[in-house]
Amino acid sequence: MKIAVIGSGYVGLVTAACLADFGHFVTAIDKDQEKIALLKAGKIPIYEMGLEEIVHRNMEENRLSFSGNLGEGIKGAQVIFIGVGTPPREDGSADLQHVEAVAKEIAQHLTEYAVIVNKSTVPVGTGRRVREIIAANLQAPVEFDVVSNPEFLREGTAVMDFTHPDRVVIGTESERARKIMEEVYHALRDETAFVFTNLESAELIKYASNAFLATKVTFINEIADLCEAVGADVHVVAEGMGLDSRIGPKFLRTGPGYGGSCFPKDTRALARIARDYGERVTIVETVIAANENRKKRMVEKIRRIAGPLAGKTLAFLGLAFKPNTDDVRESPALAIISQLLDEGAELRVHDPAAMEETRKIFGERLCYCNDPYEAAQGAGALIIATEWDSYRRLDLGRLRSLLQSPVLIDLRNIYTPEEVRKFGFSYESLGRKSI
Ligand code: UGA
Repeated sequence: MKIAVIGSGYVGLVTAACLADFGHFVTAIDKDQEKIALLKAGKIPIYEMGLEEIVHRNMEENRLSFSGNLGEGIKGAQVIFIGVGTPPREDGSADLQHVEAVAKEIAQHLTEYAVIVNKSTVPVGTGRRVREIIAANLQAPVEFDVVSNPEFLREGTAVMDFTHPDRVVIGTESERARKIMEEVYHALRDETAFVFTNLESAELIKYASNAFLATKVTFINEIADLCEAVGADVHVVAEGMGLDSRIGPKFLRTGPGYGGSCFPKDTRALARIARDYGERVTIVETVIAANENRKKRMVEKIRRIAGPLAGKTLAFLGLAFKPNTDDVRESPALAIISQLLDEGAELRVHDPAAMEETRKIFGERLCYCNDPYEAAQGAGALIIATEWDSYRRLDLGRLRSLLQSPVLIDLRNIYTPEEVRKFGFSYESLGRKSI
C-alpha cells in the first residue's frame, strides 16, 4: 500500500519508518527542507533507540523515501497521515494551525480517493473540522474519508511502542476507511486489540489516557510525601497497590513531577476542552496544579538538605525529562534548575544526551561537565533528577572524595539508603526515611 506521512517530527518519523517496515511504501513529508535533506542523507534528527536502523533498512529496500513537497509526496497515496505538531497556546488549548494548513494543502492536491488519518493529538472535533476544510478546498469532486488514529508511543521506546502497542484506536464512521486502516495495520492484526469507534471517541481516548497516567504519577507523588510524614516507604506502598490488578504496577514511580512534550500539554488541553464544552475535569485541574507545586517542593527539599542556596555550588545530574531521550521540554529538572539559579546557586550539570538542548535554554549560566565526577568536583551536594541507567552505577566512593560535602539528593530513588550509607553519604530520596 502507498502511504504518505506529513510531518517528520517524533510521531511522524516513527510512524513512517515503522509502516515501511510493515511492508508499505511510505513517503515521509516535511516542509522543513533542511530536515528532509538530512533524512535523505540517512541522518536522523532525533535520538530514538532502533529508529536509525529501521530508517536505513527501509530506505535501502526502497520502501521509505522523503519529500519536501506535499503535492508530490501524497501523489498516489491511498492513506495520508497527518503527524504535525499541535503546540500549546498561552491558554493551554492546542494550536491547530499546522493541522489546518496541512488539511487545506492536501485538499488542493487530492485527485483520487484517499483516507486522511489524524495522528496528531488534537481536541475533540478536529477530525470533523479537517473533513470540512478538505471538502471546502477540493479542486475537483474527489471522495475521501477522515480517520482519527491517536498515537500512544513514548519517547525512548517509540519503535517498540509502535510495533507492539497495547491497542490501536481507529475512529471513523466509514466502512471503506475502516477496511483500509485494517490493511495499514495488517502486521499487528493477530496480537493487538483494535478499538473501532467514531472520531470524537478516538480523539478523547488519547487525552483521557494521558491525563489518567499523569494522574497516577501525581497520585503516587503525593503519597510519597505522605510516606515521608508518617514513616512509610513509597516503594512498598506502590508495590502493594500495584499488585491489585485493578490498579496495576505501572506509572507508580515517584519522582520530581511529570514532564515532557505530552502530559503537561495534554492535561492542560483536556481541562481547556472541558471548559469549552461547559464542563470541568476538576481532578485533572488539580493534577496540573499539584505537578507545578511538586517542582517547588523539590527545591524546598534541596534547600532543607543542602542549606542556604546563595553562592552554593551544586552538582546536578540529569536534565532530560526522562532517560533515553535528549528532550528537555517541560523537564522538571530544568524547572528546578531555574529556581535554584534564581536563589543564587551555582550549578555543575551533566546529562548523557540533553546537554546541547539545555544549553539552548540556559546558555552559559550553567557549568556543563563531561561526566558526573567532573560535576561533583567541589560541590556542596549532588542531586539526581533523571534516572539514566549510567547514574545507577556511579562510583560512590569516588564521588564522595570529590564532593565538598557528602550529600546525595536522589529525586528518582535510584539508590537505596543502605548502599549509599556505606560510603558515608547523607542521603535524601523521596517517600522514605532519609538518613
Ligand atoms: C506519554 C505517554 O506515556 C505515551 O503513551 C503517549 O503516546 C505520549 O505521552 C504522547 O502523548 O505522545 P512520554 O511523554 O514519552 O509518553 O513519556 P512517559 O514515559 O509517559 O513519561 C512522562 C512523564 O511521567 C515523565 O516525566 C516521567 O518521568 C514521568 N513518570 C512516568 C513518572 O514520574 N513516574 C512514572 O511512574 C512514570
